[in-house]
Amino acid sequence: MSLHPLSRRLMAPDITAMKRVKPIVALTSYHAHTAAIADKYCDFLLVGDSLGMVMHGFETTVPVTLDMMIVQGRAVVRGAKRALVAVDMPFGSYEESPSVAFRNAARVMKETDCGAVKLEGGRRMAETTRYLVDRGIPVMGHIGLTPQSINVIGGFKTQGLTRDQWTAIEEDARALADAGAFAIVLEAMATPLAARITEQIAVPTIGIGASSVCDGQILVMEDMLGLSPRVPKFVRKFGAVATAIEDAIRAYAEDVSERRFPAAEHTYAMKDEAEERPSPPPQATKKPKKLGT
Ligand code: KIV
Repeated sequence: MSLHPLSRRLMAPDITAMKRVKPIVALTSYHAHTAAIADKYCDFLLVGDSLGMVMHGFETTVPVTLDMMIVQGRAVVRGAKRALVAVDMPFGSYEESPSVAFRNAARVMKETDCGAVKLEGGRRMAETTRYLVDRGIPVMGHIGLTPQSINVIGGFKTQGLTRDQWTAIEEDARALADAGAFAIVLEAMATPLAARITEQIAVPTIGIGASSVCDGQILVMEDMLGLSPRVPKFVRKFGAVATAIEDAIRAYAEDVSERRFPAAEHTYAMKDEAEERPSPPPQATKKPKKLGT
């Protein structure tokens, strides 16, 4: 469990300082209410572009826009009071040049009030990372499996499964750390490679499918809650929220159908006590007609 020693909201340097001190606890979050709950236990919350798949039903994160990230980012910052909130830069909003990345990241920071942004990519994003950090924008890196590049990679593939891939990925990590990234997400990566990177760089590694060797862990909240219909191998379901939601909705539908809901305590009587409560409508005797043709 995360224990925040500070009375203010955590900032990027606080996360960096946790390396080798305590495991960093993080989750994705897209809404104010879940952010308020996670805020009690997490060091940082990531408004991940996975919201495109989780909230909007896209097949990949590629269609996610800057406006979508800003709307949900604002909600999470309103809900969380203590955790650092980082917002993902979506595909197409930062790759073109450092100055385009700065313009869009500055907009995200101004309009959401978040404390950091996250970019996908290693060495190719080092110059941009340095450019943003030098201009006041904390950057979290993201290497290993980078879902925004799914169309180049050819699927959600685990990285570093053979040694010949290691050098390039280790160079990615070092380049981002040298460029000033305050932490680096390692996604879907072979454990020995994640261990080597965690050992080599001075900033924390945040694993998602990269084992407990990392300095911290992040999961997509809906995956670990047991709400997402399909989850990757690296997810442990800590809850059964889909079942809880279905049970509740089934009970609601039954109670509405049987006129057990709303009950008297859910209704408004007239101020005048003498006023009679209207008698409930009669029980349905016929089955309702099917809608449509
Ligand atoms: O978008 C996201 O949820 C992420 C996490 C997988 C780290 O980037």
